[in-house]
Amino acid sequence: MPDTVSQKQGETLIPVKPEIAARAHVDAAKYRAMVEAEAADPEAFWAKQAERLTWITPPTRIKNVSFRGDVSIRWYEDGLLNASVQCLDRHLPARANQTAIIWEGDNPAESAHITYAELHERVCRLANAMESLGVKRGDRVTIYLPMIPEAAVAMLACARIGAIHSVVFGGFSPESLHGRIEDCSSTLLITADEGLRGGRHVPLKANADAALARCPTIRNVIVVRRTGREVPMQPGRDHWYHELCAAASPTHTPAAMGAEDPLFILYTSGSTGKPKGVLHTTGGYMVWASLTHQLVFDYHDGEIYWCTADVGWVTGHTYIVYGPLANGATTLMFEGVPNYPTVSRFWEVVDKHKVNIFYTAPTAIRALMREGEAPVKKTSRASLRILGSVGEPINPEAWLWYWRVVGEERCPVVDTWWQTETGGILISPLPGATALKPGSATLPLPGVKPVLVDANGVVLEGATEGNLCLVDSWPGQMRTVFGDHERFKQTYFSTYPGMYFTGDGARRDADGYYWITGRVDDVLNVSGHRMGTAEIESALVAHPKVAEAAVVGMPHDLKGQGIYCYVTLKTGVEPTEELRKELVAWVRKEIGPIATPDVIQWAPGLPKTRSGKIMRRILRKIAANETENLGDTSTLADPTVVEDLVANRAV
Ligand code: PRX
Repeated sequence: MPDTVSQKQGETLIPVKPEIAARAHVDAAKYRAMVEAEAADPEAFWAKQAERLTWITPPTRIKNVSFRGDVSIRWYEDGLLNASVQCLDRHLPARANQTAIIWEGDNPAESAHITYAELHERVCRLANAMESLGVKRGDRVTIYLPMIPEAAVAMLACARIGAIHSVVFGGFSPESLHGRIEDCSSTLLITADEGLRGGRHVPLKANADAALARCPTIRNVIVVRRTGREVPMQPGRDHWYHELCAAASPTHTPAAMGAEDPLFILYTSGSTGKPKGVLHTTGGYMVWASLTHQLVFDYHDGEIYWCTADVGWVTGHTYIVYGPLANGATTLMFEGVPNYPTVSRFWEVVDKHKVNIFYTAPTAIRALMREGEAPVKKTSRASLRILGSVGEPINPEAWLWYWRVVGEERCPVVDTWWQTETGGILISPLPGATALKPGSATLPLPGVKPVLVDANGVVLEGATEGNLCLVDSWPGQMRTVFGDHERFKQTYFSTYPGMYFTGDGARRDADGYYWITGRVDDVLNVSGHRMGTAEIESALVAHPKVAEAAVVGMPHDLKGQGIYCYVTLKTGVEPTEELRKELVAWVRKEIGPIATPDVIQWAPGLPKTRSGKIMRRILRKIAANETENLGDTSTLADPTVVEDLVANRAV
């Protein structure tokens, strides 16, 4: 072990580095002071945090929250502001010529620097163009774009006019795009001719056309020319982005939005039903995005910051666009993938743009770790100062590799736990304040109040393990499920009344450190992508040859979790290898490649209770090959079903 690492309670403990603490926004003493300040006078503490934004009318009503009854979450509710002004206009006096976005193309020969002045102008032009198409405050705009600067421009242009954006990940299928447009009745879609990832072309416009065949609410489509591939343009509906923007004015007066006016909807999977439209509003979200970006990454002026997520996920929203830009940072946006053209790509980009702060997902770290140290070591990485991880639990082995090989034991690793619903990071080390333990997300941010509860909702004290809840609100919390407040209450506040239930399990050690163990509901986390088993099941049963399906997660070395499907075919249908391939392709087509099943096992029957409920606990054990101890099977309607499934495990 290197001498910076000491052992405590059998766990590795890596102390805060004095040189990091010395210049950090928050050191250990400041962290404690912030926690105490919030506890002593929450109103004053949260009012002070809001001062980091530029308000048109500063808020006087700070917090107005109830986790009971109808559940109402309001922050800074009488304040007026515009999110795009936080990210653009207010920086212009000092930073007009500073790079706001560094764009690194899929092809290493392509990159661009966009200054704050240029980004401001592009956003103004698109905002004017959207208004000229009749888009108004409160309208929904769906964004289905690759990782190009226009994605950030589109989000900020919506924010500028008060339209609510709904970004749909470019890897989703026409069917998934259709569902997300229909649910929020968008009137405008912004897409591109094609995307480019790892040298492969993604037919975005073709996918959009397929989806739009059944989306009557969409009146206009704005198409960004990315690859130049010829795509059909429907007259009257489809418009070229570059033509609209060239004709539009380069200045625009931003809308004055209420703090609780919606900023965006982002669809995410739950344990039941179709994806939910998580709704975030303007004031609280912007406070949280900007505060957490500064504290967790210890962002200092002039630093180059790179989050490798896609803007189609919440990480891209908060930590590529809103957080960094609100802080006047230089944010890097990467179109490509970690292993194209080579597995050194991440580190080559770090060297090319002198990246100081690097934020990625455990699945990428594990995949690169498998390639050995040489592809990392041939690069310098001397610019790196802080490393971050997000999206799924990071195993200590991957954590230590990241720390030792990538960061050369120089860069603190911040393992950040949060969710689409939380808007921003809730549990994470702060580089200058928190001693690290590989595999632990460590401590809550100031003002964040996690608890662990048992199955009955009893709050557990001390070192323990349980279901992770939050007993009080923070400004970045989601406000509702778009169009379905009842579902919001049911999903998050009914399991343990009076608390927000995260759906995650966690352990807390004797130092109060949190170790997230993963989802305790029927949500899968495949390579950091969140997916409901119910969605994959409904895709499978939509196939004409499938009678019934049950989907569970299985342990997977690279992806964290893999997708294991039990499929019962209709009577008379032969289970063939060809059909297996057809079903895998079917799910990819219905949802998108991220939902590709890893295993399909033919199941003549599924284990059910006498009341007909599928016993997923048993299916999970079989998938994990833990068939020795299947637990209590006495409630099974037909025990032979399980024997058959065990005997015919697919892997
Ligand atoms: O299970 C947790 C896992 O990802 C879930 C949230 O997924 P999503 O809404 O897509 O947001 C991902 C990016 C914030 C959580 O319920 N998760 C996220 N970060 C971590 C994590 N699990 C363990 N450690 C993390 N750092």
